[in-house]
Amino acid sequence: MATKLQSFFIAALFLLSFSLSASAQTCRTYNGFANNEVFAACVDHPVLNSFLHWTYHPSNSTLKIAFRRPSTTSNQWIAWAINQQSLAMFGSQALIAYRNSSGLPHVYTSSIDLPFPTMQQSSLSFEVPQLSATYTNSEMTIFATINLPPGLTTINQVWQEGPMNQGSPASHNPVGDNRQSLGTLDLLTGSSTVAVDSVLKRRNIHGVLNAVSWGTLMPMGAIFARYLKVFKAADPAWFYLHVACQTSAYAVGVAGWATGIKLGGESAAVQYTTHRNIGIALFALGTLQVFALLLRPNKDHKYRIYWNIYHHSIGYSVIIMSIINVFEGLKILSPENKWRRAYTGVIIFLGAVAFVLELITWFIVIKRRRSNSNKFPHNINNAKVDNRV
Ligand SMILES: *[C@@H]1O[C@H](CO)[C@@H](O)[C@H](O)[C@H]1NC(C)=O
Ligand SMILES: *[C@@H]1O[C@H](CO)[C@@H](O)[C@H](O)[C@H]1NC(C)=O
Repeated sequence: MATKLQSFFIAALFLLSFSLSASAQTCRTYNGFANNEVFAACVDHPVLNSFLHWTYHPSNSTLKIAFRRPSTTSNQWIAWAINQQSLAMFGSQALIAYRNSSGLPHVYTSSIDLPFPTMQQSSLSFEVPQLSATYTNSEMTIFATINLPPGLTTINQVWQEGPMNQGSPASHNPVGDNRQSLGTLDLLTGSSTVAVDSVLKRRNIHGVLNAVSWGTLMPMGAIFARYLKVFKAADPAWFYLHVACQTSAYAVGVAGWATGIKLGGESAAVQYTTHRNIGIALFALGTLQVFALLLRPNKDHKYRIYWNIYHHSIGYSVIIMSIINVFEGLKILSPENKWRRAYTGVIIFLGAVAFVLELITWFIVIKRRRSNSNKFPHNINNAKVDNRV
């Protein structure tokens, strides 16, 4: 029995890997190089619609490459790079190509250095004895021969594309596929990996933490406070629910805030000023609310009304700013549309719940006021609505 299952799984795995490699390796069937040039190996890049073909000679550590990008427009640049320092954009030794104003491919080398990736022409940390580019059938190809340091047989490769601006390459999209376009490549075996973008992963964690805490729990806590306290039976349960909701939102929110500050500090080239400033203001106001809880005057204290006004105005500001900042963050992260839709759905749901509860509250308050004034027609004080918070 066990052996039957085993052989079934082995067969299934074999079929699966066979069909995967057959469907993925489209570069193998390509034979469009001029002079019928043949490369020893190739890899289909998983993003940005491009292919790398190469031949590596271990004897003299010479690497010959062709980097192809089909459907390249006259308004795009393409680049392929080796990074000997790390799996990142900064430090990349890049080959860049675009079509100049005559429509002919222009290719050059550029070392992408800190602090800003200018993409200006500069020499690389290794020799490039041959460099050319072709453009046929809207396919741009960079050809190069590179003298690698002896023994370097696994490289970090980065590939990229971006728009042209007045005849010069301009910054590429900082998110999405353009952040996934790097990985290691074993020149001898041809096996390649794609880097898991740790920044992207941390941005996603930051987004989830903040959307849940500031963006969802905080408005929920406000709904508990505003609409439950009208029910006498819910006193003092509403208060504990409110405090529990807001303090846990604050605890998770501080973690989300800290990840945001860290991401902001690391993002040297791009500053998201609005998102950052709203985030810092939110943290300050949220912290103030937590401390205000400890400084709350007694229910009957004459200053309690001022504390209430202050607590409400800061509280509602925090909620509105939180929702705005979650949408600001979604703009920066630009995840799949379903995430934006999901968060919009949560906000619409909370808004609808608040609206219905608001109607119910008014109904109860007016009814109570009526019955009170019937009972005590001469005592207007008793008709006052519970004004604890
Ligand atoms: C490197 O070695 C290969 C194969 O041995 C040879 O074809 C190629 O011309 C050599 N390149 C250089 C720059 O010596
Ligand atoms: C475009 O590039 C080609 C090939 O490098 C060059 O001959 C031509 O002068 C360039 N045209 C312009 C306008 O720079």
